[in-house]
Amino acid sequence: MNQQTKKLRWGILGAARVNERLLPAIVEAHNAELIAVASRRPGAAAETIAKYGPAGHAARTYDNLEALIDDNEVDAVYLPLANHEHAEWTLRAIERGKHVLCEKPMALALSDIETIETAARRHKVNVMEGFMYRFHPQHARVLELLHSDLIGEIRSVRASYSFMMRPARMYRLAETISRGGGAMWDIGCYAIHSARLFFCQTPGAVTAMSRYAESGADISTSGIIDFGAGKYAHFDFSFERARRCEYEITGTKGGIKCHTVWQLPGDVPIISWWTEDGRQSEERLPPANHFRLEIEHFSDSVLQGKPPLLSLEDAKANCRIIVAALQSAAQGQTIRLI
Ligand SMILES: NC(=O)c1ccc[n+]([C@@H]2O[C@H](COP(=O)([O-])OP(=O)(O)OC[C@H]3O[C@@H](n4cnc5c(N)ncnc54)[C@H](OP(=O)(O)O)[C@@H]3O)[C@@H](O)[C@H]2O)c1
Repeated sequence: MNQQTKKLRWGILGAARVNERLLPAIVEAHNAELIAVASRRPGAAAETIAKYGPAGHAARTYDNLEALIDDNEVDAVYLPLANHEHAEWTLRAIERGKHVLCEKPMALALSDIETIETAARRHKVNVMEGFMYRFHPQHARVLELLHSDLIGEIRSVRASYSFMMRPARMYRLAETISRGGGAMWDIGCYAIHSARLFFCQTPGAVTAMSRYAESGADISTSGIIDFGAGKYAHFDFSFERARRCEYEITGTKGGIKCHTVWQLPGDVPIISWWTEDGRQSEERLPPANHFRLEIEHFSDSVLQGKPPLLSLEDAKANCRIIVAALQSAAQGQTIRLI
């Protein structure tokens, strides 16, 4: 921590495209300071700072990843490497005593998150999977409506996430699923995460079906998570449909819909709800930058010695369902979880 400013000192591990959102978020966060960026490609770290940072922002650059996690002044690492590299580098950073905010998905196997959990405990560091959407106040509002019993007992959740993949980004489909390629690891993890958020219980089974690219990566997947007693979460996500990023919760007395879960610049957060007794409303919330809120939350958790909102238990629970859904789609059968 920078003792004078009480800010957490961040390093970014990888010159990834998503830094377009996260780098400014770290710079703008009131309790964070961006002090270093590393990339294995010479010049890419400096280019990233110049491209996404404010004019003249000074941060050191490294042309290898080890140098950044060896930097004693870096307190926390933001890790946006390729999906199959997340677990390995999260572990390496933890072993150098760094707190880690790892992009989703934290790992491609449950056992890797268990290893991360053990290491994080041993090194007394905070580690969180980067589901930035969760830090947008619109979800707190949805939870508030649910807790007010507006729609009764939750019976069903539907989470739909899609966009038309641009040809330039098709390399995400060139990787196999076992190396983190495909729609499930990229956007399906959000759908499953948001569906789980509202059921707050361990599911009993999952069934899914996919359309695959030549590489074997899924392009479109749909499925159902069975939470027991007639409670189902339906998910669908695709790289070949128009943009949708919404969830809808149906209870015994009504329903609530969150219209734009991934907030892009210019999006207005909208929540609509209806009840069986004839009430309905569309609430427009003030815009908020969930990337900055995520960084501020994680920085606060470290600075105040508290666990972050998204626990490693949560990361494990999500990974478990993802792996089961992939298995279900591949084998054409329901996978029991308990
Ligand atoms: N939270 C969100 O809203 C959000 C949005 C998009 C993506 N993500 C997540 O963020 C992570 C990164 O996604 P991304 O799409 O930003 O990845 P990306 O641009 O493909 O970069 C991933 C890594 O690949 C390397 N790389 C980048 N460009 C390269 C190039 N031209 N040639 C060779 N290597 C290159 C970089 O490491 P080096 O710099 O070391 O080479 C980089 O860290 C993924 O895990 C994804 O799931 C999150």
